[in-house]
Amino acid sequence: MKVLVVGSGGREHALVWKLAASPHVVELACAPGNAGTCAVHLRSGNPATNLPIPADSLEALRDHAMRHRIDLTVVGPDNPLALGIVDLFQASGLRIWGPNRNAARFEASKAFSQHFMMRHGIPSARSGVFGDASQARSFASDLGGRCAVKADGLALGKGVLLTHSVPEAHQAIEEILVGGAFGEAGSRIVIQELLEGMEISLHALCDGRTALLFPTAQDHKRIFDNDLGLNTGGMGAYSPAPFIGGSELERIGRSILDPWLAGCEAEGIDFRGILYPGVMLTESGPKVLEFNARFGDPETQVYLTRLENDLVELLSASIDGTLERTPLRWSPWTSVCVVIAGAGYPGSGPKGLPIHGLDDLADRENLQVFHAGTTRKMNEVMTAGGRVLGVTAWAKDLLEARREAYAACERICFEGMQFRRDIGSKGLGIPGPAEGIR
Ligand code: AMP
Ligand code: GLY
Repeated sequence: MKVLVVGSGGREHALVWKLAASPHVVELACAPGNAGTCAVHLRSGNPATNLPIPADSLEALRDHAMRHRIDLTVVGPDNPLALGIVDLFQASGLRIWGPNRNAARFEASKAFSQHFMMRHGIPSARSGVFGDASQARSFASDLGGRCAVKADGLALGKGVLLTHSVPEAHQAIEEILVGGAFGEAGSRIVIQELLEGMEISLHALCDGRTALLFPTAQDHKRIFDNDLGLNTGGMGAYSPAPFIGGSELERIGRSILDPWLAGCEAEGIDFRGILYPGVMLTESGPKVLEFNARFGDPETQVYLTRLENDLVELLSASIDGTLERTPLRWSPWTSVCVVIAGAGYPGSGPKGLPIHGLDDLADRENLQVFHAGTTRKMNEVMTAGGRVLGVTAWAKDLLEARREAYAACERICFEGMQFRRDIGSKGLGIPGPAEGIR
């Protein structure tokens, strides 16, 4: 099979790495990829390749897939899905994995998702959708100013402001709705009550009728230790989260997925792909903060290093509607991913800095350094901005996996690199940084 992966982050490197392990794959390319994706080798020994086509150049990707007779295209990021890449490929008779444009609205529009949750009784925060600032202000005041104010559309994970007082909430409304801080994405806003509790990531692989729940994972969204500082795309993850047992996960998952599936059926939404609800475990039960319509990043890095199924077979079942007959198999081990970002992240920072120490970490057992913002120049790997690497280790428990991941982080060096020292601390119930980490 000839396979094409669309995207260029750590998630896509993990997808390429896992797809390369499948005996079904004889040719593998990533568009546009990074320095890690083109260093992956297939079982045949042939390397995967990078294509210089941006992930949102839908026609160019379609033309490439037609010309090179690609058998399966796998879409990583949200933007091409929201733009309708699946519909475009299908109109040309090409096989592609991911939700179509109609189904991708669960992520592309927070207002759509929030209304859907209300219509179908999916547990969520008290919330309202507004295009008018004075109504929004009055709702925020009713909540005492303790709000999550969210731009409706895609905003690179940055379109959410959390507020703790009425003036703060009114200022957030002003910034997004009136000032256009997130452009067109903020022409409508969702306001939710501010929820408290432990946040987890759920993933379910869907085929239009069946939703197979993954084990738990926990992301670390804030830039600094102890969940301080700005929101980011995610600074690290681990799976499973030991504070949720298997039957509890099943109960939480079903309380969200059963009404979601029934709602999709009632509204004619044919969702084939990953549904990724962000969930807060509150005192009054689990509540959905948002839906994403793709794999999480860095959740993918920890999930795919635990997944024992052949990924080509799973994604094919998701396209074909045969997931009911396809049980998921997971390693009982724990996987931990520590993201190393460049200086300035989540703002912009320098690029093109050489990264040292990667060669020492190649071909290690139970360790994989997934690349994100990297490029290769001559024979050197350089930073290309944002989140740069996802150092992922897996071991029999969380403590050991995290020790291995941090030991590997200590061997990597580039100017201004930053990473959180407390990935997995909540799962271990030990606040603060991992032991022995500088
Ligand atoms: P979202 O993109 O909607 O998941 O929001 C980004 C982050 O903001 C989430 O991962 C949470 O940490 C936080 N957040 C979002 N909504 C709420 C809420 N209603 N209450 C508390 N925190 C929230
Ligand atoms: N890990 C956060 C995200 O993928 O949106």
